[in-house]
Amino acid sequence: MGFNDNIVEEIKSRCNIVDVIGRHVQLKKTGGNHKGLCPFHNEKTPSFVVSEDKQIFTCFGCGATGDVIEFTQRFNNMDFQGAIEKLADEYSIELKNTGFGTEGKKVQLYEVNREAAAFFYNSFTKEPNKAATYMRSRGLEPNILRKFGIGYADDQWQSLYELLKGKGYQDELLLSLGLVSSSNNRIFDKFRDRVIFPIINTRGKVVGFGGRAIGDGMPKYLNSHESAVFQKKNNLYGLNLTREDINREDCAILVEGYMDVISLYQHGVRNVSASLGTALTENQAAMLKRYTSNIVLAYDADEAGQTAALRGMEILYKAGCNVKVLDIPDGKDPDDFVRKNGREAFLELVRQATPFMDYKLRRLKKQVDLNTTEGSVAFLKKAALEMKNLSPVEAETYIKKIAAETGISEGAFRLEVFGSGYSAIPKEQGKAEARRKGKAGCTMLEANLIRLMLLKSSYIPQIEPYKNAFETAACYRIFEILRSLYKPDEEIDLKQLEDSLDEEAIAILKHTMDTIQFADRDNRVFEECIDHIRATTSMKREEELIQVLSILDDEKDSDKILELSKELMEIQKERYKGTRNEL
Ligand code: CTP
Ligand code: MN
Repeated sequence: MGFNDNIVEEIKSRCNIVDVIGRHVQLKKTGGNHKGLCPFHNEKTPSFVVSEDKQIFTCFGCGATGDVIEFTQRFNNMDFQGAIEKLADEYSIELKNTGFGTEGKKVQLYEVNREAAAFFYNSFTKEPNKAATYMRSRGLEPNILRKFGIGYADDQWQSLYELLKGKGYQDELLLSLGLVSSSNNRIFDKFRDRVIFPIINTRGKVVGFGGRAIGDGMPKYLNSHESAVFQKKNNLYGLNLTREDINREDCAILVEGYMDVISLYQHGVRNVSASLGTALTENQAAMLKRYTSNIVLAYDADEAGQTAALRGMEILYKAGCNVKVLDIPDGKDPDDFVRKNGREAFLELVRQATPFMDYKLRRLKKQVDLNTTEGSVAFLKKAALEMKNLSPVEAETYIKKIAAETGISEGAFRLEVFGSGYSAIPKEQGKAEARRKGKAGCTMLEANLIRLMLLKSSYIPQIEPYKNAFETAACYRIFEILRSLYKPDEEIDLKQLEDSLDEEAIAILKHTMDTIQFADRDNRVFEECIDHIRATTSMKREEELIQVLSILDDEKDSDKILELSKELMEIQKERYKGTRNEL
């Protein structure tokens, strides 16, 4: 079986616990023991004792106790495997062909899980047994149950444990996979008298199990805890069987439970998978996206289910999926519904599924009283924020819809959408700064630009495209003259310039020459000026667009509205990026 039974014993005998703990805790020899401050709780007087004879540690303060492997696990926050590897590494113990070590380890764990799954499966197919009877009573057919590898864990307390122990697997390994539990120094099967759902990853490896009570037992479901091969957040139940269907249909129906997957599958709805009763994670979203971007969520209608659905949708949406929510009448789950109403009725529900944004808006509406002014305003403000997550075309559709539903004018709502959220604070600051005039009667920006052109004439053609930045009339006159005097590779003759200027402009010129020095930073200053101009220009354009959009006629100008909305959203996105980079 490629697994060295003795590796755990070897680690325990070669890694002296006093030595291992002594590396982290200062120990003092007292009689036959060693004493120190407990690393697992806060204390001032030592109550942490390490016994060299027994090779165990015990804390009389907090009760922590265990052997060298348990210490390593707990001290480093590792699982059993990790502790074995760490100790083996530190004490140069060879792990080759032991079932541990980076590669060997997982192979070993998968193999144990596979043997467990086979054991459960065999018990299930040896009819009669309670699990098979139960599953049949829920309308599931033998061929489907076989396909999903459904099993039966009997009520004997140790039948799986005996089997795996007989094959030479260590208790620690079985415990780490959650196949067995220990209590009062006795080890027994974790799953007893339950229907077993093996959880198989897309590479066909059994990573964990779900066990359902037969009938009304509690808890209804028991699942493998997380292990080196099972992370809930990285798995979707059924995907090993259904991913090709999902890919072919270019759509995945996501449900909550094992039974929903199997039941839908039997009814011919095969593009289905389950998130195992938790909110969807980013990893799961990424997994689904390999097969489709169209996701329909069919979660239970209770409040917990709906909240989970909403979080799941946000995650899917951020992953770039097109998300819809399925509404099952009478608070049923997909299994109940499809068993009662059949495949066609279920597919009709899928076709009528509510798009993500409608679903969100519906929830927002439920949170307020739309019959009051406060309620409507609160709803519109929240809805306006949601619009920003959409593409311009989508946003436009929803703006129309919301305006029609609430009776507010499209223009007013559009103003709320585009005029809020991204916050006008940087805008106001920028405006004030750009327009504040210094002593000389021109802005800092203008003064800098003029100084740059006087320093190096090559700045003149570079500044030309931004000449609108010269808002002060005298500055604009200076620029015009500079441009007329400009010759490539020749600097500006200051005397000649002054001869062509009026008194006011000369005063600005003098002030600029006296007060502004760049040292070697002129290029930097130039770039900053240009950035500033660009930002100001887009701010002005933004204000303009918001104004125009709020007065355009909803009916007649719809093309124009779409075009301007697009431009506006682009500007706001750019600026948003900019502010984020600064943070
Ligand atoms: N679940 C769980 N632990 C529980 C309850 C639920 O892990 N104590 C997970 C299971 O994956 C379950 C899913 O959440 O399949 C949905 O739970 P629920 O709706 O209660 O169960 P159903 O799948 O509908 O199962 P059944 O139809 O047999 O009641
Ligand atoms: Mn159910």
